[in-house]
Amino acid sequence: MSHPMLRALKCVAVTIALVICVTAADAEERKPLLGLPAVPSMTAGSEAMRKLGERLFFDRSLSANGTLSCAMCHIPAQAYASNQSALSIGMEGRSLRRNAPSLYNVVFKKFLFHDGRETDLAAQVWGPLLAADEMGNPAIGPLLDRLRNDPAYGAAFSAAFPGEGVTMITLGRAIAAFEATLLIGDDRIDHALFGGEKSALTPQEWRGYDIFVTKGGCVSCHVIGDKIALFTDQSWHNTGVAFAKRNPVTTRVELAPGVFQDVQLSAIGLDKAEVRHDVGRFEISRNPDDRWAYTTPMLRGAKNSWPYMHDGSLRTLAEVVEFYDRGGGANPALDPRIRRLGLTEEEKAALVAFLESL
Ligand code: HEC
Ligand code: HEC
Repeated sequence: MSHPMLRALKCVAVTIALVICVTAADAEERKPLLGLPAVPSMTAGSEAMRKLGERLFFDRSLSANGTLSCAMCHIPAQAYASNQSALSIGMEGRSLRRNAPSLYNVVFKKFLFHDGRETDLAAQVWGPLLAADEMGNPAIGPLLDRLRNDPAYGAAFSAAFPGEGVTMITLGRAIAAFEATLLIGDDRIDHALFGGEKSALTPQEWRGYDIFVTKGGCVSCHVIGDKIALFTDQSWHNTGVAFAKRNPVTTRVELAPGVFQDVQLSAIGLDKAEVRHDVGRFEISRNPDDRWAYTTPMLRGAKNSWPYMHDGSLRTLAEVVEFYDRGGGANPALDPRIRRLGLTEEEKAALVAFLESL
């Protein structure tokens, strides 16, 4: 039988040790991986936040009718993208107009979505949660109430966010904390470029790397830095993927005497097929230079995230290389860096091997 005072002391010692362990584990995880920047600690959150976020990410009950989770479009084994469809399939089988991007390294992406319309990972979650064709929640409050009334979630939120519980903000922060763990770094390419281990890439992959940074000109958009390789310039460009398929979708109508307005053909019942017309960044910025421009993807994990491009129109990495080799898609506003490359078959194969190595 130990003295109560001694027991109390022991408890204090255990608590202090636990706190030190937890802090050390957190610090350990925040150490940047070779080739990547550090994850901002605000986003990385605590272990409790990450665990909660993981559970939310995989939970189908977050959708209006309990059928769809984030993970059903961002599938772990498919680089957190989805292979089976070019355009994502959402609520009740509705087709979205874009391809689900991989979520690897997404915590470092400055402009989220293919058109870069969102800049805050924690706020982003409300996009799919509320979109009628994605998870279909008609409003925010009822979803938060559902989580609050679920005893397990209530407790998990209180533990992860003491004093805050389930709110619009904590839900987003938990999922973002989980997404911040989806990292590819400290990989073969990083050891080869930043760790001085030449043999980490095969001779063919090195050949592909050479083409990526010289003849192919890929690196000017898919950036590789001195110490960090995010493979994106955090911007958007017109590579001509979208243009070829598009026809004019608006027409001028007289809304009231003397008041003219360009409206979508679909709005006046003339063209239902073009409702999902996509002009990329222009929809956000209204800057004509941004027509058909999409954010530069980060390429890591690309081997498993097919199909490619914002509309999933290219099935394989070999098709992507062919696409760039012929100078992208025909388009009057093409980025000047997209031009015929004249790669040999051997060079194309090497470039594909390099992309697969990421
Ligand atoms: C129905 C399929 C679907 C569901 C469900 C879904 N997403 Fe997505 N996600 C997409 C598509 C498609 C895009 C691209 C949309 C666009 O660019 O307009 C996207 C984009 C994103 C992006 C931006 C990635 C980038 O590279 O810019 C993030 C982050 C993301 N989703 C996270 C989530 C989270 C978190 C959930 C759950 C709350 C979720 N998604 C649910 C299909 C889905
Ligand atoms: C002018 C900037 C630019 C250049 C140069 C460029 N890319 Fe891209 N790349 C992009 C953009 C923007 C996209 C997304 C296009 C879309 O979504 O429609 C993209 C998409 C891709 C994708 C598909 C990724 C995915 O997840 O869908 C791959 C792979 C790729 N590029 C590889 C390359 C290679 C290889 C080269 C060199 C031959 C290259 N890129 C040159 C800007 C560029």
